[in-house]
Amino acid sequence: MQSSDTHGQWSSKMAFIFAAVGSAVGLGNIWRFPYMAGENGGGAFVLVYIGFVLLIGVPVLMAELTLGRRGKMSPITTIRNVAKASGSSRRWGWVGHLASLGGGLGLLSFYSVIAGWVLAYIIKAASGVFAAGFGAADAAAVLDAHYADTSSMVFWHFIFIAMTVYIVGRGINAGLEKAVTFLMPMLFLLLLVLVGYSMATGEFIMAVKYLFVPNFSELTGGAVLDAVGQAFFSLSLGLGTMVAYGAYLPKDVSIHRSAALIAGADTIIALIAGMAIFPLVFAFGLDPASGPDLIFKTLPIAFAQMPGGSIFGTMFFVLLGIAAITSSISMLEPAVSYFEERQDMNRWKSAIFGGGVAFTVGLASVFSQGELKEFYPLAAFGIEMNFFAINDFIVSNLIMPIASLLLAVFVGWFVTRDSMREEMGLPEGGIFEIWHVLIKYFCPAAIALILIWGLA
Ligand code: PFF
Repeated sequence: MQSSDTHGQWSSKMAFIFAAVGSAVGLGNIWRFPYMAGENGGGAFVLVYIGFVLLIGVPVLMAELTLGRRGKMSPITTIRNVAKASGSSRRWGWVGHLASLGGGLGLLSFYSVIAGWVLAYIIKAASGVFAAGFGAADAAAVLDAHYADTSSMVFWHFIFIAMTVYIVGRGINAGLEKAVTFLMPMLFLLLLVLVGYSMATGEFIMAVKYLFVPNFSELTGGAVLDAVGQAFFSLSLGLGTMVAYGAYLPKDVSIHRSAALIAGADTIIALIAGMAIFPLVFAFGLDPASGPDLIFKTLPIAFAQMPGGSIFGTMFFVLLGIAAITSSISMLEPAVSYFEERQDMNRWKSAIFGGGVAFTVGLASVFSQGELKEFYPLAAFGIEMNFFAINDFIVSNLIMPIASLLLAVFVGWFVTRDSMREEMGLPEGGIFEIWHVLIKYFCPAAIALILIWGLA
């Protein structure tokens, strides 16, 4: 069975753009970007991140979309077929395995844990927990209660995976398409409201300085690896997602324009999230480097002090949950489309199987929010990371860059130049030439150097 019958619903150019932006914009922008920037000292990280988005992210995004449209199958089969058509080895398909099975399901396993956290916060916000007088200490207490309640975390993790499986299993229908078209702009507006609030009440200037004035002495190898990992994470690269979405891209849609739009929207939303969160971090004397719970420590305080804060808070977490769903379906899709093609499994079985794997693996990440928060399985090697952090590191800082590096080498050196150019619908020279030089030389070299430097 071909996977094209599953995505046929992306009915127009707009629908594709929303699907792709929906995939890119998610927890990565609002939850992960601010705490990554905070852990890595702010400005220099942000600058390097933006550089990576432009010089590595956009070219790799174009490569993934072009490959997808060329091959029109699941990422694994697409890579194999394109390799064959270019006279290269079908073994390149293994890059697809690494990306869509290891990376996609690996990411979903812990992404769902954070998304479950968001769902739990919808209930808290709606039940008026973030009410007047709620301060930093209360936010910390609510968080501690959340960490202590393992069964509730397992429950929400399960619910989120179940929702993802349901949508992917049914195929992405016109309802979701419409919903996304309406809800993504809503999320954007709500973020602007939050920035407005932070500007009025928080340490706005301090935050601007923190995020935009680089202090390069803070820039370690680890920070640079985090920045490249964050660029891949945020643009949904290195897991086959954009190959899968590109497979259903109408011929007349411009790939380079789409890539610019997706990357632009994604980056702007991450920066706005930073501008909403850091003024509060400084105003309430919180530690910017406090890690994955940063937004859960800060935003509830803001909601508590706003008029109508329960409503805003509830809306915000609902929209964030939706942003997470439009991303999580795109993590599961590449693996599901492959199972469907290969193993005579139908779509439902494929989705349930993939979701089941992600749920099970994700339990380790659930426990490392609670009882195993300070359990470091690799402590013997001097690595102080819990399961959750290790899982995130392997997917974001290893699989995403390595799969993207291999993909860049594949596209730059092993796929005929003309087939890519024709698929992009570009003339020789100009944009195509710049892209080709970046993907053939710059991206592989830069990613390899960053990996070596970052890991050393
Ligand atoms: N880009 C998504 C986010 O920022 O939340 C996460 C993501 C989705 C990463 C899909 C990778 C992927 F294939």
